[in-house]
Amino acid sequence: MHARIGARSVATWGYNQGLPGPLLRSRVGDTLSVTQRNGLPDTTSVHFHGLALRNDADGVPGLTQAATAPGSAFTATFKTAQPGTYWYHSHMELQRDRALYGPLIVDDLHEPLSYDAEWVVLLDDWLDGIDGRTPAAEAATLFKGMRSSGSGMSGMSGRSGTSSSPFLGSDGGDVSYSMHLVNGRDPMHPETFRAAPGQRVRIRLINSAGDTAYRVGIPGVKLTVTHTDGYPVVHRQVDALLLGMGERCDVLVTVPDHPVPLTVLAEGKSGRTFAILDAGAGRRPTVASLPNALDGTVIGARQTVADPSVRLTTKDVDVTRTLELTGSMGKYDWGINGRRYDESNPFASAVDIRAGQRVRLDFVNRTMMWHPMHLHGHTFQVGAAGPRKDTVVVKPMETVQVFFDADNPGQWLTHCHNAYHAARGMMAVVSYVR
Ligand code: C2O
Ligand code: CU
Repeated sequence: MHARIGARSVATWGYNQGLPGPLLRSRVGDTLSVTQRNGLPDTTSVHFHGLALRNDADGVPGLTQAATAPGSAFTATFKTAQPGTYWYHSHMELQRDRALYGPLIVDDLHEPLSYDAEWVVLLDDWLDGIDGRTPAAEAATLFKGMRSSGSGMSGMSGRSGTSSSPFLGSDGGDVSYSMHLVNGRDPMHPETFRAAPGQRVRIRLINSAGDTAYRVGIPGVKLTVTHTDGYPVVHRQVDALLLGMGERCDVLVTVPDHPVPLTVLAEGKSGRTFAILDAGAGRRPTVASLPNALDGTVIGARQTVADPSVRLTTKDVDVTRTLELTGSMGKYDWGINGRRYDESNPFASAVDIRAGQRVRLDFVNRTMMWHPMHLHGHTFQVGAAGPRKDTVVVKPMETVQVFFDADNPGQWLTHCHNAYHAARGMMAVVSYVR
């Protein structure tokens, strides 16, 4: 398909001719049935990110089902049990660094938040079809180790365009993108969301990027963080938020009396984009008027606290499993526990658990890169009192402990949500005993 990005028409792959794909929406307790018809020249699959669905609807080729061949179709049918902000994307190698992603929202029948309007905001880094670039060609360059290592000793990156971040360490990412998009729009042609001054807007932020963390804020407007990865947190007012790939945050804002930019800065990289929250009177912001930095109170999604209603019950841990994140930029040999995931032998590096167990997973980062680590089919709790999440940013050389109840039997992938790291093999299976 061809997608319009501002003045350009780019060749890419997407869902229903869209960039992003269509909004899928259901209510708690509904059964959602999604049919994917594959009109691509390659096999594909669709994964519903963050949902505790049945394993056979999870969309992982070679693990939960066969990939969908060109010309054929696959229908995933599952109950949506938990309200919140989720998304879906292809789970075939680098396909999701094209337009093969979209939002999925599950509405609460008894929504506890009150707000006047809702704005779904997908953030994406884009290169596909620009000046002949494709994710596959980008990957080929990286996989050959053609980019020099960015692990400088002084915290300065050796690669152009990346810089140190308190949230990510010395290396923001591997890929330098052509542009950054909000809901498929470039900063020269930003999306505009209209609301009346004084209204409360719920913004559902989704980082659907391949290799970019974003810092998001609205200068002069406080964000009240209410959810992360679909689950409620103790409300917290901040000036800006940091989201790694795969993470979501819901925030409430009170609309000011003039147009303001929802500002999106590529963290640890150069590049920025925005959308307009348009209200009252005044000049609309432009890309030239964007701030260079978003400061004040800035937190990562992981620095929130689970709302008491979703905190894990107190229980002894039955089993602890360690997932060492391994590899280096130079060799581009990203793996887990020293192994690159092999789709034809998925259980080679599986960690086994049993239904009913309280599981502790330790993500031990042995690399000089940060990794947004994701677990399928479950929503873990970060640490003893942190938020419930399905994706958590793990900084270079850091260990992050997460806890979950093994209540959804199946074979579940856990992986880095950097599209290039995952494609290279930073994936493993958390396996209920086979
Ligand atoms: Cu967003 Cu394996 O998933
Ligand atoms: Cu990674």
